[in-house]
Parts: sequence; C-alpha cells; structure tokens
Amino acid sequence: MGRGPHPVTEGVRDLLRLEALGLMTAGIVHDLGNMIQVLASAVNIVERHPEVRGSAALQPVVAAAIDSLDRAGGTVRQILGFVREDAATAEPIDVALALAGMERLLRWLCPHPVGLTLQLDAVLPTLICNRHKFENAILNLVLNARDAMPEGGRLTVSASAEPAHLVIAVSDTGTGMTPAVAAAAFEPMFTTKPEGRGTGLGLPMVRQFARELSGSATIASQPEQGTTVTLHLPIPVVRESDAA
Ligand SMILES: Nc1ncnc2c1ncn2[C@@H]1O[C@H](COP(=O)(O)OP(=O)(O)O)[C@@H](O)[C@H]1O
Ligand SMILES: [Mg+2]
Repeated sequence: MGRGPHPVTEGVRDLLRLEALGLMTAGIVHDLGNMIQVLASAVNIVERHPEVRGSAALQPVVAAAIDSLDRAGGTVRQILGFVREDAATAEPIDVALALAGMERLLRWLCPHPVGLTLQLDAVLPTLICNRHKFENAILNLVLNARDAMPEGGRLTVSASAEPAHLVIAVSDTGTGMTPAVAAAAFEPMFTTKPEGRGTGLGLPMVRQFARELSGSATIASQPEQGTTVTLHLPIPVVRESDAA
C-alpha cells in the first residue's frame, strides 16, 4: 500500500487523514502538557516560598510563567484556528540567541542535582524554521534528559557548526536506554514512563521537526551511562546565482 501504482482508495485516505489529525492533536496536547508543567512549577515555587513574593527573586519565575503562557496561548490558537504551522511561519532563527533565550527556563526545569551546561560554538549558522517547533524540540529533549536523571547528573545542550550543517546535541548522564528501547523511542506513543508522566510523543515530534528541515534525529545511548540525542540540520546553501 502507499507506494507503487495502486491508488489509495477514498476510505483508506480518510483513515490516514484521521490518523494524521489524531497525531497532530495529540502532539498539540503534549506541548500543552509541557507548558502547563512549567506553569505548575512556577506556582509551586511561589506557593512554597512566601518570602519570594514581592522580592526581586520572583521576577524570573514570573517571566518564565508568562513566557510559557504565551506559548500555551499560541498552541491553543493553533487548535482553535486549526492552523498548520508550516513553511509559512518559518523565520530565520539565530540559534545562539534562541537557546540563550531558553536558558533560564531550561535551568529552572532542571534544578539541582541536575547540572545544565550550554555549549555553543562562537559562530552558528542561522536556521530557517518555525520558532515554536524549534523551542518545543529542545524542550522535549531536555525534559527527557532530566527525566532520565532522577538522582541528578550532567545535562549538556550543545550547538555546533559543521560544513553545511547545524548539529544540536542534548546529552545526559542518566539511565540510558537498552537497544530495544532506543530502537522504539521514536515511535509515536512509545513510552516507558508511568501513566500520566509519559505520552510517547516527544521524540516523534523531535524527529518530525528534523525531517521537515531535511535533517535527522539520532540516538546514541548506553544503559547506566547516558544518552545523547543529536539533530543534524542542513543549512540551505545560498548560491550567488540565487541571490542575484
Ligand atoms: N534521554 C533519555 N534517556 C533515557 N531514555 C530516554 C531518553 N529520552 C527518551 N527516552 C526513552 O524514550 C521514550 C520515548 O520518549 P518520548 O517520545 O519523549 O516520550 P515520553 O517522554 O513521553 O515517554 C521514553 O519513555 C524513554 O523510555
Ligand atoms: Mg518525552
């Protein structure tokens, strides 16, 4: 089915459409879940530390909550308007700036004893993509890395420039994956997390993001050693003749 000369029948096409719709909706709800997690943590911090209220220390917490609310609003608009965020909403992303802009949120999602390091090449290429999808890909990878280190460890987000490629890698020193788990990890709905903790939609969305940019997402993992998920994203070459 699919490939080859046989036309896809109307019924099958409807089923495929429904499946795509279900996956997309599940993906959106998954993103909402991530953002709501951020908001819940913010509120918890304020709640647990009354002395924080009214002090300067409250500012980053509130800023992160507002940022997350902004993104949740965008996602809700996406559901309501049923807008597909495609190439139409792609924009040039300064990767160093974008990651630096997420740093506070990421640090805050990875409290001690998880230590977060950003390793960015001094010069990074500009990515042309949807900002929301970029941020969600990073967020998904960092949350997975954090979840893999319940006892703490090192979490490294690196971005490096290679010829014609941007390479983004998220590494942890956590539980790692068995070969069987690593082989299944990109499948939609595959999760090893308890109910309510995992949806199995993070990595499929990360891979979809990479593929939409004609890139790839790969896993290198060793049980008890840790995991690195690497995105290879081609940078479009602008030829002189195109620019003219
Ligand atoms: N950094 C990681 N370390 C160990 N296992 C991981 C890591 N990232 C992903 N996994 C495994 O891949 C599965 C699928 O990940 P994902 O698609 O993000 O879904 P979820 O996080 O909701 O379970 C996880 O349940 C886990 O088993
Ligand atoms: Mg996940």
